[in-house]
Amino acid sequence: MNAPLSEESLRESEELYRFLVENTPDGFFIAEIPSGKLSFVNSKLCEIFGVSPEQAGEVSIWNGLSPEEHEIVSERIHKVIKDTTPSPRRYIYSMRRMDGTTFKGEVSLSNMMFREKMVIQGIVRDVTEQIRLQDQLRHAQKMEAIGTLAGGIAHEFNNLMQAVSGYTELLLLNTALDSPSKQKLEAIRKSTQRASELTRQILIFSQKVESKVLPVRLNHEVMRIFKLLKKTLPKMIEIKVSSDEHVRDIQADPALIGQILMNLSINARDAMPDGGTLFISTSDVFLDEQYYRNHPELKPGHYALLSISDTGCGMDKETKQHLFEPFYTTKGTGKGTGLGLAMVYGIVKEHGGHIVCYSESGMGTTFRIYLPVADPPKDIPELASEKYPGGTETILLADDEDFIRNSGKELLERFGYTVLIAADGEEALEIYRQKSDSIDLVMLDLLMPGMGGKKCLEEILAIHPAAKVLIASGYSQDKINTEAMAIGAAEFIGKPYQVGELLKIIRKVSDKHQV
Ligand SMILES: Nc1ncnc2c1ncn2[C@@H]1O[C@H](COP(=O)(O)OP(=O)(O)O)[C@@H](O)[C@H]1O
Ligand SMILES: [Mg+2]
Repeated sequence: MNAPLSEESLRESEELYRFLVENTPDGFFIAEIPSGKLSFVNSKLCEIFGVSPEQAGEVSIWNGLSPEEHEIVSERIHKVIKDTTPSPRRYIYSMRRMDGTTFKGEVSLSNMMFREKMVIQGIVRDVTEQIRLQDQLRHAQKMEAIGTLAGGIAHEFNNLMQAVSGYTELLLLNTALDSPSKQKLEAIRKSTQRASELTRQILIFSQKVESKVLPVRLNHEVMRIFKLLKKTLPKMIEIKVSSDEHVRDIQADPALIGQILMNLSINARDAMPDGGTLFISTSDVFLDEQYYRNHPELKPGHYALLSISDTGCGMDKETKQHLFEPFYTTKGTGKGTGLGLAMVYGIVKEHGGHIVCYSESGMGTTFRIYLPVADPPKDIPELASEKYPGGTETILLADDEDFIRNSGKELLERFGYTVLIAADGEEALEIYRQKSDSIDLVMLDLLMPGMGGKKCLEEILAIHPAAKVLIASGYSQDKINTEAMAIGAAEFIGKPYQVGELLKIIRKVSDKHQV
């Protein structure tokens, strides 16, 4: 005979069930049907929906569902009432928190009799993130499949085009042809050229082009394209650039990085027919383990983040779903090829990076591109070291020594500068006359054949009294250096100089405000 449950064991059993229900990672509820009134909720459920336990007693399941789900849920509940065999069912609904925000929730429901009433018992789990990741994976797989297909076609197509253009060229060599025939052949030849440009773009998308990767200063590429855009974009579009000097070098093909910037900027232009602002920025970001868990496509570590925004027309949901697909375009025939973003996508993937698009109709568009940074080169560690400051200014470097000129150019470019070179004072002056507006700093060797550094310095200062001129000379404490400083040189550096020393002096001079 079973002993009656003692009060003690009842309490223990109660405690055990409470412990289980309150410590599951899922929301738990019991609701009366058909009213949907909640007769029990655990604390996790309150947390998921952002309600207090007191509030929970006054609300029903309808408060937790997005309005568009009400009809289908109500239908399902009626089925449940008819079908009295208890059976768990699982659905994903759009749910609503008390503050009005929504999320995707998975519910497992069972119907049963409880205290002589028909109830549903449910378990709710927030699966928003899981769904997002699945979608992302599906999208990546789709893009890969399209890439393989498009790449294969483009490759075959190229071979066929090769034959067409080859024979056309051969025929064109035939001087006996009459001129209408020649014109027709010429038209064929032009078409083959356009076809091969098209296939080149598709091959970039499917990551089947040869690329030359080397350590690249992202800021440098941005400045290069910025200068180009300034000349080519309509004046109603204002271009703003903000580059973070802490961005690390990326391992990349500079031509392809330029292509990304161009394609995105052209789209931004098309999105702003009445003008607006194009904003390009770079920054150094560190993505941690936590970020990785939510974005498995980006391994933890440092990234160079390239962000391109416009204040244009933005995109609707449909466009956002397809924008990276080759040949997807909303621009009229003859206006868009639909290959711009497909190329960008291919290039970003080729570089082990990741691209995200934020856009709303009428609200402008932002593309963010994460590019993995290059491992610092091991053979010349001091060059990659962060203690050397770089910059994006344009420097005119005049030195009569080939070696110094070329190595100086390479070095300074590596740290982000744009460098013009001159082999003597005359050439330096000539360049300065033409481009004094875009030259931020002149680095001058004092002892050069011809007019020499001192005279050149005087002439430069005559053109632009506030010009920043850095004197480099092999004779450290020479009289001539003192003279140069007296004439108005901004700073002096003795040769041979250390890389770090030079970079610091350049920064010092560049950052100095002229009074
Ligand atoms: N910055 C942007 N603003 C608004 N829509 C854009 C933007 N960039 C791309 N799009 C949309 O994505 C589509 C695909 O772009 P893309 O692949 O460059 O092809 P295309 O420019 O030739 O149409 C465009 O047709 C346009 O609808
Ligand atoms: Mg485009």
